[in-house]
Parts: sequence; structure tokens; C-alpha cells
Amino acid sequence: MDRDKIIEPVERFVKSYLSEAETGHNWWHIKRVRNNALHICACEKRGDPFIIELAALLHDIGDHKIDPAADGPAMVRDLLGELGVENSIIEQVTGIMKEISFRDSFNEGHSKSPEFRIVQDADRLDAIGAIGIARAFNYGGSAGNEIWVPGVEPSQFNSKEEYVSTETTTINHFYEKLLLLKDKMNTKTASALAKERHEYMEKFLDQFFRECDTGKND
Ligand code: ADP
Ligand code: NI
Repeated sequence: MDRDKIIEPVERFVKSYLSEAETGHNWWHIKRVRNNALHICACEKRGDPFIIELAALLHDIGDHKIDPAADGPAMVRDLLGELGVENSIIEQVTGIMKEISFRDSFNEGHSKSPEFRIVQDADRLDAIGAIGIARAFNYGGSAGNEIWVPGVEPSQFNSKEEYVSTETTTINHFYEKLLLLKDKMNTKTASALAKERHEYMEKFLDQFFRECDTGKND
């Protein structure tokens, strides 16, 4: 298997698959996640960069937000099989895809491979900081959610079912997910990057509430 010949057709497949996706989940998100992941891999000196790159490129294939009825891992198994990728690598990539989502983090506890930890951190970094703010408001707008509603408090979720079935405002999404991510990073490299991004979101929220006529709890 010639690894160099695999990445390019995979990129083409992903670009085409995500061509209609909401802009926070399109090819540019994938590209940032791949860059973050390879950067973390190089700094941590852990994980197989080929598996990390494939999983970063393919992690949103069949995602519920893009295509609720699709079986992403089956699509990826077909694609990588046709490209001649070894079965053991295909299994690692599809295994990462199945568990990377925030909604699946409520019942974590299994042992995670270095590749999984790195790609998950890379995806989570793209959910926070300036990019995270932009993506959240774009997603909220595309879902028809309110920016913020005085008196509607953030929820605390204990399960995947609660998380996916509760409607929220975009500002509340910061308290329900985005501000929690800095303490959920798997690697030291991502934790350090997350710290700055987290502080930037806190500044944004301070300013947001200062600019509102009413306080957060009115
Ligand atoms: P995952 O893709 O890890 O399952 P989510 O489904 O929670 O995670 O969301 C991925 C990204 O989509 C978030 O980081 C955020 O940018 C955006 N997003 C998801 N749900 C909301 C929401 N209710 N309000 C604003 N943005 C959201
Ligand atoms: Ni993603």
C-alpha cells in the first residue's frame, strides 16, 4: 500500500461529500482539524501520522448533523477498501469516527488509542476560540436557534439523549459544551492551545453580557 497515493483521493471524496455542508462543518473545518492533529502528533511524538491524517479527514463523514440517515463508517470502509488500505487501518479509522463526537463522550471510559486522543483533541480545538465562536453562531443560525434569551438558563446534560434532544440558545451552548472542552483535552499540547482559546471565549462572553441591557439572570 502506497500511503502517499491514498490521501489525495480521500481529500477529493471529503471535499465533494461536504460541498453542501453548513460552513462550520465543511472542508475548511476538516482542513483545520487535520492541521491541528498533525501538529499535536508531531509535538507529542505519538501516534501513526497516516492513521491520524485519515481519521481527521474522514471524521465527519456521515455525521448526524450533515446526513442523519447515513452510515459513515460503512461509507469509509468502502472507500478505503477500494483504495487498497489494509483492514487493520480501516478498523482504526472507523473506530475513531464512531467515538469522536461530543455526544458520545458521556459514556467514555474505554481505553483510547493515541490516534483517537489526538484527532479528538484536534476536533475539539476547532470548536473553541475565535473559530469556535464563529462556528457556534453559524450553526445556531442555520438551525434557527436564538442567539440568547434572558431567563433561559444553560442545561446540565448527563447523557447523550439529553444533550441531543434539548433545544438551546447559542450563548447557552458555550456553557453546555464549549467552555467544558479545555478540561477534556487528552494531550498536553492541546491543553496548552485550548487555554488561550478558552480565555478568548470568556472575554467574548464578558463583553457580550456587558453590551446587553439586562444581566444574564434577568
Ligand atoms: P460533535 O460534532 O463533537 O458531536 P456537536 O454536535 O456538539 O459535537 O457540535 C459540533 C459543533 O457544532 C460545535 O462545536 C458547535 O460549533 C456547533 N454546534 C452544535 N450544537 C450547537 C448549538 N446548539 N449551538 C451552537 N453551535 C452548536
Ligand atoms: Ni468535526
